[in-house]
Amino acid sequence: IKIYVPLDSASVALGADDVASAIATVAAKRGEDIQIVRNGSFGMYWLEPMVEVETPRGRLAYGPVTPEDVEGMFDAGFLNGGQHKHYLGHTQEIPFLKAQTRLTFQRCGIIDPVSLDDYRANEGLIGLENALKLSSEEIVKAVTDSGLRGRGGAGFPTGIKWNTVRQAPGDQKYIVCNADEGDSGTFADRMIMEGEPFVLIEGMIIAGLATGATKGYVYTRSEYPDAIRIMTEAIEVARANKLLGADVLGSGKAFDMEVRMGAGAYVCGEETSLLNSMEGKRGVVRAKPPLPAIEGFLARPTVVNNVISLCSVPVILEKGAEYYRDFGMGRSRGTIPIQIAGNVKHGGLYETAFGLTLGEIVDQIGGGTASGRPVKAVQVGGPLGAYFPRKLFDTPFDYEAFAKVDGLIGHAGIVVFDDTVDLMKQARFAMEFCAIESCGKCTPCRIGSTRGTEVVDKIARGEDPEMQKELLADLCETMKFGSLCALGGFTPYPVMSALTHFPDDFKPYALDIA
Ligand code: NAI
Ligand code: SF4
Repeated sequence: IKIYVPLDSASVALGADDVASAIATVAAKRGEDIQIVRNGSFGMYWLEPMVEVETPRGRLAYGPVTPEDVEGMFDAGFLNGGQHKHYLGHTQEIPFLKAQTRLTFQRCGIIDPVSLDDYRANEGLIGLENALKLSSEEIVKAVTDSGLRGRGGAGFPTGIKWNTVRQAPGDQKYIVCNADEGDSGTFADRMIMEGEPFVLIEGMIIAGLATGATKGYVYTRSEYPDAIRIMTEAIEVARANKLLGADVLGSGKAFDMEVRMGAGAYVCGEETSLLNSMEGKRGVVRAKPPLPAIEGFLARPTVVNNVISLCSVPVILEKGAEYYRDFGMGRSRGTIPIQIAGNVKHGGLYETAFGLTLGEIVDQIGGGTASGRPVKAVQVGGPLGAYFPRKLFDTPFDYEAFAKVDGLIGHAGIVVFDDTVDLMKQARFAMEFCAIESCGKCTPCRIGSTRGTEVVDKIARGEDPEMQKELLADLCETMKFGSLCALGGFTPYPVMSALTHFPDDFKPYALDIA
């Protein structure tokens, strides 16, 4: 009997390893013949550790399970799908999962992450096999036609980026996967690297075929040790099975890749500072142009794509550009893995076509706050994203619609706050975060962020607050238009949205500042 217990770091943090050992111990004591498979998470984190048992009726789920629950689950006949207080029914029928459109994360949770056989048995590698029959122009065309845009945050069309690299002269080109996921409340990159690493490998090989790059790197952070271990193991399995190396699947095309670890500076997620870090230099932002597509890693043409962008490519090559493009709205095509976090009842990853409103995501899918108090604000797009008040909850999840209300989708992380949040403190935090993480290259960010923190403190102390608010808006304008990269340039989003939508919070009081 196969029993699935997730191995991803979030489930492990919630006790999945202890649950797996408890299941093994109880089964051994009772003489039950079981096989524990450590799978990725389906992303329903309020149910983790979620244990599944494979029965003739299909995979049945139980969660959240603690080691203390295990004996009782066996007593209740869990090996045959018996009833228990944690019984959730068929995994795929759980409403949160059933309502999703899983294209990028289609196998995450279903398979053993490092089993290439499992990956193949679930339609893995079909996209690559199709790509191997196409010219580089045809692959680029498929990705362009699909409408895929960069899922790291900027939303730049992936096909256009690939075409720039394809056409750039160079004897050596590179694919760099930006897995330096640093946005607050985001975990999509980590979840897919831990739960379905072969889809990233497949996407990177296809990117190599499309652009002429033969070497790839996954740049991730030291805070992601499980993702690093699982990715590295999957790369070794891929190499042993000739998926990577000198002769990709017998095609005569070469592609190989490795994992590189950064030290976790937020700014190293910015593509040029990431490239500096990979070259062993300090993670300082480079001025653009030249674009990395022309002069990137070691001054060679380089595709820098986010994990989710690359992981979305195999399904496009498998099912066709049109299939992918048919999901979504406006210029936001396909699906987006929304990560719902913060003070929320149903925190987790929800992949869906673009177009749901923010209200639907927070109230219906997320189920409102975990505290049961009213939602006051949601921050979308990481620490550089805007705070949305309820009056903007009808904004559809779409790059352009968000831009229209001075927000950004970013890497699609949503952090929910109840009515106890103080938006002036959050604005101060944004400035302080920028000051701490600034690479120091340009003045508006390096100096502006520190001055910004001081200005908020002055409002809190009641030192001519009206004038300080004007100063804050003026400073944000300078940072927005004068900063070299998104760190300084986007810090005004959380600050100004807090000031605009929650003006009542910007009043003198004893701000708890060290
Ligand atoms: P950007 O708008 O400068 O560039 C977007 C991408 O398009 C870059 O890769 C750039 O090199 C490329 N590009 C532009 N013109 C091109 C051309 N003609 N040919 C080929 N490539 C071209 O934005 P940037 O600075 O790369 O990213 C900012 C975003 O990053 C923000 O929206 C923010 O949401 C996001 N972000 C994401 C984080 C995460 O954890 N995923 C963390 C921090 C920020
Ligand atoms: Fe560095 Fe900040 Fe300027 Fe970006 S905006 S280049 S992080 S100083």
